[in-house]
Amino acid sequence: MNNILFVNACIRKEGQSRTLKIARKFIEEYKKLNPDDSLTELKLCDLDLRCITGDMFEQREQLLQEGNLNHECFNLAKQFANADKIIIAAPFWELSFPAVLRVYIEHISVVGITYEYEDNKLIGMCKAKKLLYITTRGGEYSHGFTNELEMGERFIKAICLMYGIENVITICAEGLDMVENNADEIVNNAIEKAVEISKTF
Ligand SMILES: Cc1cc2nc3c(=O)[nH]c(=O)nc-3n(C[C@H](O)[C@H](O)[C@H](O)COP(=O)(O)O)c2cc1C
Repeated sequence: MNNILFVNACIRKEGQSRTLKIARKFIEEYKKLNPDDSLTELKLCDLDLRCITGDMFEQREQLLQEGNLNHECFNLAKQFANADKIIIAAPFWELSFPAVLRVYIEHISVVGITYEYEDNKLIGMCKAKKLLYITTRGGEYSHGFTNELEMGERFIKAICLMYGIENVITICAEGLDMVENNADEIVNNAIEKAVEISKTF
């Protein structure tokens, strides 16, 4: 039995977010194929996470210096580190993803929980070997010169390297806000890909 963590960083609501539509279909198929796995969904918009500043920063630094990782402020990091497989769904915003996901990453990046240093080398501490990143983009960034501007998938892949998560799979539907494109068709193609990936994830 695997313990799956679904990090839902979609801002638009159910039925409105195209990213979430793809993620829901993936999860539906995955559950059919793996009925014994347990899935925990974290709706980042409901967590009311604050970026780490002021007193929160001071307290966190103090705890880390003392090597005290029992405080509840490290619970999200522990949950992430202990998941067997992780799914993140986030729309493409400002060339990456919504700030709520960046703040979440700030909270889960904890030395001694999700990563550590050994002889000045970064060592990932997360149990998950696979992470699925689901995103949708208004424009097209997977090819051409705009590819260099794409910081969402790139960031997720980099942070996963730091956490020790070797395999990052991306499902992306892009060009959805370009008038010449048929957005429904592009989303449906991404859903088909999600169904395929659910068989091996
Ligand atoms: C605040 C905001 C910022 C966005 N930034 C970008 C961007 O930088 N590049 C882009 O191609 N699309 C951008 N978009 C368009 C979204 O990526 C696109 O509409 C996406 O499909 C939204 O996903 P959703 O339906 O799950 O909300 C932005 C949309 C919003 C609302």
